[in-house]
Amino acid sequence: MAKTTAKNIIIDTDPGQDDAVAILLALGSPQELSILGITTVAGNVPLELTTRNARMVCELAGRPDVAIYAGCDRPLAHSLVTAEHVHGKTGLDGPTLPEPTMPVQDKHAVDYIIETLRAEPPGTVTLCPLGPLTNIATALQRAPDIADRIEEIVLMGGAYFEVGNITPAAEFNIYVDPEAAEIVFKCGAPITVMPLDVTHKALVTKPRNDAFRALDTPVGIATAQMTDFFERFDKEKYGSAGAPLHDPCVTAYLINPDLFSGRHINVEIETQSKLTRGMTVADWWNVTDRAPNATFMGDVDSDGFFALITERLARL
Ligand code: BDR
Ligand code: CA
Repeated sequence: MAKTTAKNIIIDTDPGQDDAVAILLALGSPQELSILGITTVAGNVPLELTTRNARMVCELAGRPDVAIYAGCDRPLAHSLVTAEHVHGKTGLDGPTLPEPTMPVQDKHAVDYIIETLRAEPPGTVTLCPLGPLTNIATALQRAPDIADRIEEIVLMGGAYFEVGNITPAAEFNIYVDPEAAEIVFKCGAPITVMPLDVTHKALVTKPRNDAFRALDTPVGIATAQMTDFFERFDKEKYGSAGAPLHDPCVTAYLINPDLFSGRHINVEIETQSKLTRGMTVADWWNVTDRAPNATFMGDVDSDGFFALITERLARL
């Protein structure tokens, strides 16, 4: 059933083809999601490119009015690790999109996050991090009062059963900035996590990719080209039927939470060990007495997930 009020969200992102699909899914779902702003962070590629890519995606969707704020260009404590080996040199390899002309807002993303959370009524803004957690952690460090005002943080990051994709122990978003992740997981706001355990079940198989292309719209065709590109790497790596579409799990959850299931558990971040830095130590089996701080998803109705994406992309 259609909701009467759309949820206010800030998408914090490092596009990335899968980030792009997450943004398009949100833009195609105005009844459920109202994008207050998009904040960019360094991750898959450096900040300049993630900001360019976010603008390209909004323009592709015919939404040059969306406010985009550039954020942190490096993690809190370490140098930046990027993922051109997955996303290509631009971060958005695949389609040929025009250079964006829409503006980047003057304000820094961290200031925007703090000011928005302070200006809106408490409990009415959901943060959607799709990349390293540097912007969110910096905002929480600088303005600890905002933690109580966040409705929810729904993020893509981490893994338990699937362990790691950038090291044997760590998922990329958490690995790039574990110190930031630690701050976020300890902040006290409600947190929902889409780990690799879920996203590795959300595979872009050929029929699903064909369904995007068959929309025969600029958005549908560009999405198929993006997921085609992205697919090459993951298919080779995992020998799977297609690449995992990680970040759209976040926006799909906010549109239809019934597609996902998981457990409310304790999740802590490893920041010290050389071997397992960035690991999400998730107490899935409830073997400690550490207090639960996150809902850690474990499963997704992948047919329902892809049907939702295709339906919403068709609206753009
Ligand atoms: C995450 O890392 C990035 O490469 C993707 O965009 C996604 O956010 C998956 O580990
Ligand atoms: Ca991402």
